[in-house]
Amino acid sequence: MPDTSDHTVPVLAIDGPSGSGKGTISRRVASHLGWHYLDSGALYRAVGVAAGWADLDLDDAGALVRCAFDTEIRFREAADGELRVLLNGHDATDELRTETAGAAASAIAAIPEVRAALRDRQRAFRQPPGLVADGRDMGTVIFPDARWKVFLTASAEERAERRYKQLKDKGVSVTLDGLLREILARDARDASRPVAPLRPAEDAVRIDTTGMPIDAVVARVLELTSQ
Ligand code: DC
Repeated sequence: MPDTSDHTVPVLAIDGPSGSGKGTISRRVASHLGWHYLDSGALYRAVGVAAGWADLDLDDAGALVRCAFDTEIRFREAADGELRVLLNGHDATDELRTETAGAAASAIAAIPEVRAALRDRQRAFRQPPGLVADGRDMGTVIFPDARWKVFLTASAEERAERRYKQLKDKGVSVTLDGLLREILARDARDASRPVAPLRPAEDAVRIDTTGMPIDAVVARVLELTSQ
């Protein structure tokens, strides 16, 4: 299907593995620029969670594609500025963040028909005055004509530690070792799948955020967009 989105609207694509800081950085940059924000991972997570609610088999591509088309996914900014995700009208924000939802998302994201089903939904976020798009294939597949492309990385150990702190703050009990193993397994799956594998676009600026404070990464990305 042709891309009917408005190509005159500027896009900043921010890709990278989980835990690279993409989400936090993309949201801050979008809010600074006053642009729209697309959390594409949340769409894959949403389909994973909706599939779980409907008791679908994660190998049943046909059922998952129907689920990707039929599930109503809405993003709403709460009074505290937090982005809430509504699935068929139900607030599923907390469920979307679980490791189970992440693993389901990673599995269904390897199915080409599911990716195709979510393509237009993602492109529909390209609205004036601009879009910050966060994901794995924003710069390579969804918005290949993005004006700026950033690929964020961080060592697996640091990403596991960031996730560990986040979950501990939420009172979830996990081990650092277990998280590191999960992160490495997810990286391998996301990078080795035949469709839209995780890789930087050729024209992406790579930023290694290991040991870098968030503010410094945000400043670096904003500096790029001012060029
Ligand atoms: O960024 P995240 O952890 O919320 O993403 C969840 C999963 O979805 C991740 O394992 C890979 C997949 N994903 C993808 O394949 N393409 C995207 N643009 C975003 C996420």
